Amino acid sequence: MDSMQTLQQYIDQSSRIVFFGGAGVSTESGIKDFRGVDGLYHLKYKYNPETILSHSFFLRHPEDFYEFYQDKIVQPTLTAQPNAAHCALARLEELGKLTAVVTQNIDGLHQMAGSRNVLELHGTIHRNYCMQCGQAYPLEAISQADGVPHCQCGGIIKPDVVLYEEPLNDTVISQTIQAISQADLLIVGGTSLTVYPAASFLDFYQGSRLVVINLDITSYDSKAALTINGKIGEVLGQLKL
Ligand code: APR
Repeated sequence: MDSMQTLQQYIDQSSRIVFFGGAGVSTESGIKDFRGVDGLYHLKYKYNPETILSHSFFLRHPEDFYEFYQDKIVQPTLTAQPNAAHCALARLEELGKLTAVVTQNIDGLHQMAGSRNVLELHGTIHRNYCMQCGQAYPLEAISQADGVPHCQCGGIIKPDVVLYEEPLNDTVISQTIQAISQADLLIVGGTSLTVYPAASFLDFYQGSRLVVINLDITSYDSKAALTINGKIGEVLGQLKL
């Protein structure tokens, strides 16, 4: 049996599938990943991108943060559409075979494709709030702002995304651990599995069918029952669902 037939068989035989994904799930929608071949972190900027995307940098240099965030994160997402990977995962949930999508992405494409139980480990660009009064703001308040977006009260509006140096949301963590620990099939795709604590949640999987679908090798390949070196949209798009 080839890899696709094995993946199809695993999916046909499972009813509590969890998908764990990263930026590689959205590259086929035109959104760059971070560490892949032409990822954001390989491009040259005034500051190291992982420095820019940190809490202390946001507080110290909001103008430089928002210049990067607008140009490299928000604007590319405004025109992005879900790809075959997002659609296949939404279909699996609709069939009652998938219990959760756990994502490190902040682009909202899983929800746009129809997925309902999406656990966003690193938050979302679609939730924003004033740091002074707490007023909530939609993405437009950021995408249409010129420079640093401000609330009517004068406070700075911050995206509800987990920057470096910030903690993940406790509720999302416990829901993620519960979903993964109860999964009969765990499919990991489009992630380098190099960022913690996100990658550590895979260790809660107790089943024997870990599948990794990625363009580059990952540190979990050796633990996988099946590894597919390919584009996740193309791979999941071939499934008979
Ligand atoms: N199909 C399969 N794999 C892909 C595809 C694709 N179409 N496109 C890219 N990839 C792979 C890349 O080879 C790479 O291994 O997806 C992986 C993406 O890895 P990263 O760019 O490191 O993204 P991610 O793992 O999501 O990063 C985690 O790092 O900077 C933080 O907060 C940021 O959430 C992000 C976190």
